[in-house]
Amino acid sequence: EGRLVPFAEFRLPFALGHGERLLPPEPVESLAQYRSLGGLKALEALQKGHLAPEALFQAVEEAGLLGRGGAAFPTHIKMRAVARGEPPRYLVVNADESEPGNFKDRFLLEHHPFLVLEGALLAAWAIGAERAYLYVREEFEAAIRGLEKAIGELEEAGLAPVPLEVFRSGGLYICGEETALLESMEGRRAEPRLKPPFPVERGLWGRPTLVQNVETLANLPLILREGPAAWRAREPKLFSVSGDVERPGLYELPLGTPLGEALRRAGGEPEALQAVLLGGAAGVFTRDWAFPLRYREKLPLGAGALVAFGEGVDLWEVLLGLAHFFQEESCGKCFPCPLGTAVQVEMVKRRERNPSLVADLVATLKGSLCGLGQSAFWAYQSLLEVEGAA
Ligand code: NAI
Ligand code: SF4
Repeated sequence: EGRLVPFAEFRLPFALGHGERLLPPEPVESLAQYRSLGGLKALEALQKGHLAPEALFQAVEEAGLLGRGGAAFPTHIKMRAVARGEPPRYLVVNADESEPGNFKDRFLLEHHPFLVLEGALLAAWAIGAERAYLYVREEFEAAIRGLEKAIGELEEAGLAPVPLEVFRSGGLYICGEETALLESMEGRRAEPRLKPPFPVERGLWGRPTLVQNVETLANLPLILREGPAAWRAREPKLFSVSGDVERPGLYELPLGTPLGEALRRAGGEPEALQAVLLGGAAGVFTRDWAFPLRYREKLPLGAGALVAFGEGVDLWEVLLGLAHFFQEESCGKCFPCPLGTAVQVEMVKRRERNPSLVADLVATLKGSLCGLGQSAFWAYQSLLEVEGAA
């Protein structure tokens, strides 16, 4: 039985590991409160000279931390690459969570601003950043207010080794793509750049930049506090569970938890569901309840959204909503994506199942410049697979 967990009951914020629904009644609002919950240990160690950048990189490597924004790239590789670059260097916290079905970063920003900022400061300090920016979706008003207040408290207490600044994003889905994000910070239209070069080499203003997701950074203080081996043993991941389950919400589960088990935690009955959309809009429909929720498996985890659809839902209507979403959010910079996403809408409207037409669409979209176009057909393709398996 999932239950509401009063925040004071868990001393390690966002480190339950029991699969309870994370719903603290109140956010951590002050530095004193964060400290009383066991926070600030890593920043204080840094201040006392008990932590070296290489020790942090080593711990992150031993923990095996993979980027939690969806792409699961090893964090230590990015950190070390930026640290090797010529200064000035920057950290940008990607807090532009826009993937339908995902609400984990917003939760962290609103409820655990100090944890996020401690992680950001550790990373910024270790890579020798001149400044750290929090690129926050502009609709996250409460999060922005909380972050600005928390930054003030940290700076006043002399606990911020690097200046921190909040940057409000323009609110488009494409703003979350790291290079479009950087373009928009430089005052241009949010359109993705060609990669490589990756931002670790040429990022903000052409300087070495670490762009990292909120949840990824929030794990840094935990890895240092618990030790990389202990952290790795539980490999926590936040899952945003919504749709036809009794207790939708945010759940922390160890990576590798079977999909069906994750749904049961949230009061869902897998066998009674038609499918789950795993990873959000840029995700896949599946009924593989035994699938272990971890990265680099046959299905993409994305940022960890699980949207459950019970009987009675017309999945083609859901798919049409997703197809419209991609068409509207396509930035128009490259050719295959606006074309492919527009054709996809028409094909989904007529419930096209012809394999050769779908294969043509897939081939077109695969030629897109960035992840938006390259993943826009996953839901379509996977729905056909789910139907085939049903
Ligand atoms: P990517 O695989 O191109 O890159 C992932 C990260 O690793 C980036 O920071 C990139 O700069 C870095 N990287 C990759 N190769 C590198 C190298 N050789 N050297 C140095 N750094 C390197 O993936 P991308 O396009 O950044 O992200 C795609 C993911 O975003 C998808 O898996 C999707 O799940 C997720 N996504 C998340 C959303 C959200 O709201 N959280 C929204 C939409 C997509
Ligand atoms: Fe823009 Fe789509 Fe091309 Fe990405 S794939 S650059 S969103 S048009």
